[in-house]
Amino acid sequence: MTFTRMDESTAEEWAVIGAETAKNQGRVADRILDLLCSLAEITDGFATDQLTHCLQTATRAERAGADDEVVVASLCHDIGKAISVPNHPRIAAEILKPYVRPEVYKMILVHQDFQGKHYYAHFNKDPDAREQYRGQPWFALAEQFADAWDQTAFDPDYDTLPLEHFEPLVRQVFAAARM
Ligand SMILES: [Fe+2]
Repeated sequence: MTFTRMDESTAEEWAVIGAETAKNQGRVADRILDLLCSLAEITDGFATDQLTHCLQTATRAERAGADDEVVVASLCHDIGKAISVPNHPRIAAEILKPYVRPEVYKMILVHQDFQGKHYYAHFNKDPDAREQYRGQPWFALAEQFADAWDQTAFDPDYDTLPLEHFEPLVRQVFAAARM
C-alpha cells in the first residue's frame, strides 16, 4: 500500500515510485513510436502522409551526417500533428526537450518560422520570420533542418527509410531524461 494523498507520503514511498518510473522508462519510446505510426493516418492534402514526411526528413538528416539526437528530432519534428496541427512545433519540442541538447530543442520549437521562407508568402505571413533568431548558436542547424531536410521531404518517390530503421535510435535517445 502507498499513500492516498500526497500530504501523507513518505520518502520511502517516493523512492519506490522513482524506481518504478525509471524501470518503465521504455514506455516513452513505445509511445513515441505509436504516435509516429498514427501520423500515417494524416495526409490532409500533402503529397505524402505525415509519417512518410517525418521518415523522409529523418532519412535526409541521417544521409547528411546528422548526429543521433538531430536524426531523432527530425523524425519527431511533426509528431505534435498527431494531436493538433496548430501549435504542433511546440508539442513536438516539449516532448523532445528532456532527451536532446538545447539547440536541438530550439531547432524543433521554431521550425515553422524557418519553414516559412518556403511558403509563408501564400499566407501573407513574413517569409523572413527566421531572421528574429539570427545570431543564435543554433541558427545554422535550424536553417539546415528546414531548408535541406524538412521542406524537401514531401516526395513520394524518394528512397525513404522505414520506421524500423529508426526504432533503435528512438529507444536510445528516449532511454533516459536529462532533467
Ligand atoms: Fe515537417
